[in-house]
Amino acid sequence: MSRSAHPAGPRHADVLPEGHYSAPPADLNTLDPKVWAQTVDRGDDGVVRVGGVDVKALAEEFGTPAYFLDETDFRARARAWRTAFGQDADVFYAGKAFLSRAVVRWLHEEGLNLDVCSGGELATALSAGMPADRIAFHGNNKSTEEIHRAVEAGVGRIVLDSFQEIVRVAHIAQELGKRQRVQIRVTVGVEAHTHEFIATAHEDQKFGIPLAGGQAAEAVRRALKLDGLELIGIHSHIGSQIFDTSGFEVAAHRVVGLLKDIRDEHGVELPEIDLGGGLGIAYTSADDPREPHEIAKALTEIVTRECEGARLRTPRISVEPGRAIVGPTAFTLYEVGTIKPLDGLRTYVSVDGGMSDNIRTALYDAEYSVALVSRTSDAEPMLARVVGKHCESGDIVVKDAFLPADLAPGDLIAVPATGAYCRSMASNYNHVLRPPVVAVKDGEARVIVRRETEDDLLRLDVG
Ligand code: LLP
Repeated sequence: MSRSAHPAGPRHADVLPEGHYSAPPADLNTLDPKVWAQTVDRGDDGVVRVGGVDVKALAEEFGTPAYFLDETDFRARARAWRTAFGQDADVFYAGKAFLSRAVVRWLHEEGLNLDVCSGGELATALSAGMPADRIAFHGNNKSTEEIHRAVEAGVGRIVLDSFQEIVRVAHIAQELGKRQRVQIRVTVGVEAHTHEFIATAHEDQKFGIPLAGGQAAEAVRRALKLDGLELIGIHSHIGSQIFDTSGFEVAAHRVVGLLKDIRDEHGVELPEIDLGGGLGIAYTSADDPREPHEIAKALTEIVTRECEGARLRTPRISVEPGRAIVGPTAFTLYEVGTIKPLDGLRTYVSVDGGMSDNIRTALYDAEYSVALVSRTSDAEPMLARVVGKHCESGDIVVKDAFLPADLAPGDLIAVPATGAYCRSMASNYNHVLRPPVVAVKDGEARVIVRRETEDDLLRLDVG
């Protein structure tokens, strides 16, 4: 299909169907720095670059689809969180957002700690040299084997998530002749303003031990009695992709209330409080995330105020941002395949990936942006839905976005803000091969997670 002979699709604001979008942007060639990684820009030739390398060269060398991660941006964000919280607090990067050995090394170098929630994440962290005492181990159903490995390795803390686990960890620590530092994760009963599946502090869900009904206080009672455990603090994580700090305020209030009760009942002041992760990022120009220093200031003030009110020494604060560090640092590069304009609706633009490399749109109705990156275009905006190549009609990457009406097969388009929960939640649905992650910095690109191959797939298939 030639660019000029593109069949008529819906293009103008006055014929647009209902959807997620607002009006088409004034200029489709401009990249909003809010949603793109720090070093992304458009060269004089119209081709978008990251770390000084243009996407055509990247596509040629590494193929598509692929995630390109701006290492400079990653390190800058990690450092910004570290600096914002200062020496009296700890920042644990949440590995579930995206973890690889290179990422572990960057975190180590930038002075961050690491939160892992499975044996696989723990193995990755340890194999890349993260000191065990800077690792926190999470999860609502850690296996005995995982707990054993974590205690044996000497992880800095295990976050206890159930009554059974209190006993299990204590027992394993004793067996190994150790005293394991632990926190207890509580559910504070806050309804976070986010998608139901990523809200985690309301009571009716699987994580944590409820404050309500005295369950958390009972968990503390039991943990304090066990020789194998050193209870160092209370943990709360209220959800993900949250923009305002009011939920954290309520959480801090309730957690400090528990610390006060513990002091009154047991005469001990626990030295740490962890407020979890969950800070939102900009997926589209409509999102307005807060800067790490604003968040640090707000959270520190909240905890200090609450502790003063309860006459407690202010505990050491820790936080666990995942998405806010890695999310904005990567984009997914796709090649445009088939294009189907549907009269009065929108134009379906198929790419060479889909729900296997980004499940978030299908799972959470997430919104994303998209741009034509292999060239500029002066064509008028066309309302597009970017879909994948999977056998499923819900295989949508970007629900509603504007792309230039002369878009054609072979063009490269990129979806920004895919650094978090895209590669880490990728699947092999339809035996599609998971894309590589390529780190780009100062004019150089290198694969940090390689593309899956058919050999990889067949190696697992031993029937
Ligand atoms: N700490 C704990 C205990 C967590 O459970 C999580 C996320 C984090 C920290 C990091 O949250 P972040 O700062 O990245 O929002 N797959 C979903 C998000 C699930 C988050 C699960 N826990 C998504 O794609 O939005």
